[in-house]
Amino acid sequence: MNRMQKTGMVVLCFSLLSQAGWNPCLADDDSHQGKDHRHPEKERKHHLAPVTNPVYKETCGACHFAYQPELLPAASWQAILNNSADHFGESLELDDASRNGITGYLLANSADKSGAKRALKIMRSLGSVVPQRITAIPYIREKHHEISAQVFARPAIGSSANCAACHKTAEQGIYDDDTVDIPR
Ligand code: HEC
Ligand code: HEC
Repeated sequence: MNRMQKTGMVVLCFSLLSQAGWNPCLADDDSHQGKDHRHPEKERKHHLAPVTNPVYKETCGACHFAYQPELLPAASWQAILNNSADHFGESLELDDASRNGITGYLLANSADKSGAKRALKIMRSLGSVVPQRITAIPYIREKHHEISAQVFARPAIGSSANCAACHKTAEQGIYDDDTVDIPR
């Protein structure tokens, strides 16, 4: 490519950039490379951060998957903890130290404070709504609308809230469509 052509490319890229939508000049690596070759920084921003807080993981992961804090806004986590005496029909026993530790972890890492693409999509789809279920988020509902209630009720799944039953990499914060496998 000579100098003139290069200049032409730059100008073309800029004019494309000013239009909303896909820009071939800034195209994602995955269009010509395997996902494994993606830049780690990009990987982190696309996926959710795995759960790191041991008290949260142990306490809140006792009955179900320990959801990443980036799956709900801070106000949702606060509401869930405020309602711990009636947690979806269960009563959660939390000593003060655990409650404070869990609250601090969830609020500091919630969807509204995240730079991850999925968290941004979650926040955008919620508007000002403060759900107490991840499965009530319009973005999440829409992504699963083709899955029937009978499928969710399968013994190996049980509920739409059982993310890890189908998303084999859920614990790593990876919810890509190529790591989904719905149990029979
Ligand atoms: C004693 C068991 C138990 C413990 C411990 C527990 N939960 Fe739950 N949780 C439930 C049940 C039951 C549901 C409803 C699941 C369903 O509908 O499939 C639920 C649902 C949820 C949901 C909504 C899932 C959805 O539908 O999107 C969130 C979020 C949640 N729990 C967060 C927490 C947090 C945070 C903690 C720790 C403070 C916690 N849970 C601890 C039993 C528990
Ligand atoms: C019954 C299996 C099943 C369960 C349970 C389930 N999912 Fe999914 N999920 C899927 C399938 C299938 C898709 C669609 C993949 C596709 O687009 O082809 C999907 C898509 C998604 C996507 C969008 C992926 C993308 O890149 O477009 C996200 C995010 C997601 N799920 C998160 C969750 C979370 C969080 C939970 C738990 C609260 C959950 N899922 C529970 C099967 C499941």
